[in-house]
Amino acid sequence: MTAFIEAASPHTMNTYGRLPVALERGQGCRVWDVNGKVYLDALAGIAVNTLGHNHPEFVPALQDQLAKIIHTCNYYHVPNQEKLAAKLVELSGMSNVFFCNSGLEANEAAIKLARKFGHDKGIALPKIVVYEKAFHGRSIATLSATGNAKIQKGFEPLVEGFVRVPVNDIEALKAATANDPSVVAVFFETIQGEGGITPMRADYLQQVRALCDEKDWLLMIDEVQCGMGRTGKWFAHQWAGIVPDVMPLAKGLGSGVPIGAVVAGPKAANIFQPGNHGGTFGGNPLAMRAGVETIRIMEKDGLLANAARIGERLTQGLQKALSGVQGFKEIRGQGLMIGIELDRPCGVLMQRALDAGLLLSVTADSVVRLLPPLIMSEAEADEVLTILVPLIKNFLAEK
Ligand SMILES: Cc1ncc(COP(=O)(O)O)c(C=O)c1O
Repeated sequence: MTAFIEAASPHTMNTYGRLPVALERGQGCRVWDVNGKVYLDALAGIAVNTLGHNHPEFVPALQDQLAKIIHTCNYYHVPNQEKLAAKLVELSGMSNVFFCNSGLEANEAAIKLARKFGHDKGIALPKIVVYEKAFHGRSIATLSATGNAKIQKGFEPLVEGFVRVPVNDIEALKAATANDPSVVAVFFETIQGEGGITPMRADYLQQVRALCDEKDWLLMIDEVQCGMGRTGKWFAHQWAGIVPDVMPLAKGLGSGVPIGAVVAGPKAANIFQPGNHGGTFGGNPLAMRAGVETIRIMEKDGLLANAARIGERLTQGLQKALSGVQGFKEIRGQGLMIGIELDRPCGVLMQRALDAGLLLSVTADSVVRLLPPLIMSEAEADEVLTILVPLIKNFLAEK
């Protein structure tokens, strides 16, 4: 394995601290490495593989699309763009969609929407409220919106026009924006993912919605990681009964095929005019087919209900096994977006889980993160617990 890894990496840029494994194929919630070792996938490529691996309906649909047409470009109509947009509009209660290729691109478009919204109102230097510990991507604008100095370091000067506030504190939001006529939008993740699986409270979401209405700001909710059914509703903010004005999506929308989307409500749907935004690949026929088929299969197979049920099983199992264990702090999240916070850095658990045949991640230094495919079964969830609980207990018992 070591020889393979050394031989495999001399020409790719040194941007990732990779684990010494190369995954070659998958089936359902299992993947196999190049040496034939099998792993249970509780990460789904960081909330991407909604339908797991080699799905029996998804793969033939993509094969059909590959043989028909892969890419055309936006000089022409792409019928599945309209089909996928109509579906996202139906599921979100919003009105129009722009397609791109990734989470950061979706967020970049949201930031441009907010700025143009401001300019259209005569605000020359519009400001967007963003949050401590937020993660919105690694382009210059999205890393500036991100609340993590490590991600920003070395890339200054940052993009201006962001005001940062703590999560779940309406008074702090009001104080930071008081008497500032240049504020145009509030932008956050319903459940912060990279920041450590930190949910916004329902009452806070409702208060921010009301404030945005009162002030004529755009409410922009980054559902790139927590959206697309993962929490048991199509979009995590729907648990609070609110509707945003702008909603970036990506990750799970294409079940592994790169895709991004910005969904806009009536307040934001007509901000962009021809020439304001676009891209070569965005909305291409292959990605659009992936989005259409992902949602069709999710609906047919009841995957939202499954995410809620399996999420509950995992959360309760973890809670029962870990409560009272010295060093275990709490479990956060919803559905199949689960964070287990420990009282110390635990990055080493990624390698140990790998050794034990389980894929997961550690985020914000001390939070074990589970983001399994939404097709996970009860038996597979129990297997996750069987592997993970002793790993965490043994780790916390060290020293
Ligand atoms: C909430 C959120 N927004 C944006 C992004 C960036 O997405 P991408 O990596 O597709 O650019 C991520 C990626 O982890 C994310 O979790």
